Amino acid sequence: MSGEGRLLTRRATLALGARAAVALGGLRLAAPLPPAALASESTDLVRKAIPSSGERIPAVGIGTARRFDVGESAEARAPLLEVLRELPRLGGTVIDTAPSYGQAETVIGDLVQQLGNRRALFIATKAGQGGAGVGAALAEMRGSLERLRTERIDLLQIHNMAGVESMLPVLREWKQEGRIRYYGVTTSFPRQHEPLARLVAREPLDFIQVDYAVDNRAAEGRLLPLAADRGVAVLTNLPFGRGRVFQALGRQPIPEWAGTLGIRSWAQFALKYVISHRAVTCAIPGTARLAYLIDNLGAARGPLPDEATRRRMAALIDAA
Ligand SMILES: NC(=O)c1ccc[n+]([C@@H]2O[C@H](COP(=O)([O-])OP(=O)(O)OC[C@H]3O[C@@H](n4cnc5c(N)ncnc54)[C@H](OP(=O)(O)O)[C@@H]3O)[C@@H](O)[C@H]2O)c1
Repeated sequence: MSGEGRLLTRRATLALGARAAVALGGLRLAAPLPPAALASESTDLVRKAIPSSGERIPAVGIGTARRFDVGESAEARAPLLEVLRELPRLGGTVIDTAPSYGQAETVIGDLVQQLGNRRALFIATKAGQGGAGVGAALAEMRGSLERLRTERIDLLQIHNMAGVESMLPVLREWKQEGRIRYYGVTTSFPRQHEPLARLVAREPLDFIQVDYAVDNRAAEGRLLPLAADRGVAVLTNLPFGRGRVFQALGRQPIPEWAGTLGIRSWAQFALKYVISHRAVTCAIPGTARLAYLIDNLGAARGPLPDEATRRRMAALIDAA
């Protein structure tokens, strides 16, 4: 490691990220972040265990809805290439996508192949066609393997509970055959929390995925405690409520007491709240820019809020 590298602090790394973002404004690909800068960042992400295996994954990953739905142009893909290149270099691994996110799976598959970093990543996708029958879902699942250019998907989730009863045996078979490593069920609809809770109570699942944010705490009532008790890992979607959290809090300064947790942005505030819940394994904020990636992964560094601070965080946004 160079002397300069040793001296690079987290702040310097953030500045590098900001520079990269500026470069992207001109659609110029920034050089990869210097290895020394990344080395100082990469070892200390909070990791949480997947109860069904004990494997530990970083508590913040990336979501790919909407923003990864781009065409084939190198310009449109440039910021996404940067995100996928730096994600594992910064200590992250988890990518959540779905066949219903337009071109997102294809874009991820192409770029990961180009980068050659598939083995450093934990790729989660979904099966959304179960409602149309197992045959349609199987065709979709095989398509995901092709689009993602992978032999094995880390996590395959039944999207919004589509055809869940007939799909669970299919996913179990795929897991047994080694085509997927874990399976789960997702929702982002409050009306599905109760049916999903009943499923968690009844079926052995590796993962669930649910909407959960500092201003959207419905999952705390039954679903999250149940998942913890039943040993089910939890991915949380919509951690920013698609920007709602920033609209509520963005105009006020970050309070000093939050700063003591190393929180430097409202994104980190929102993510630290989510990942400090004992049931939550990993939050997947929509992340399609390097500056966001650096910011969001920063939430998985340093201390997490205790119960009293979590109550304070919720009260702050409730009052906003
Ligand atoms: N049922 C399901 O299975 C389901 C449903 C919904 C979502 N999901 C998954 O969950 C992921 C997350 O949800 P989401 O992307 O819809 O919403 P979100 O994570 O709540 O918000 C994402 C938006 O926040 C902004 N953002 C991200 N990082 C930021 C930062 N550090 N500072 C400021 N702004 C930041 C970006 O807005 P701009 O890009 O506009 O700047 C981004 O598009 C999805 O991508 C998807 O993978 C799954």
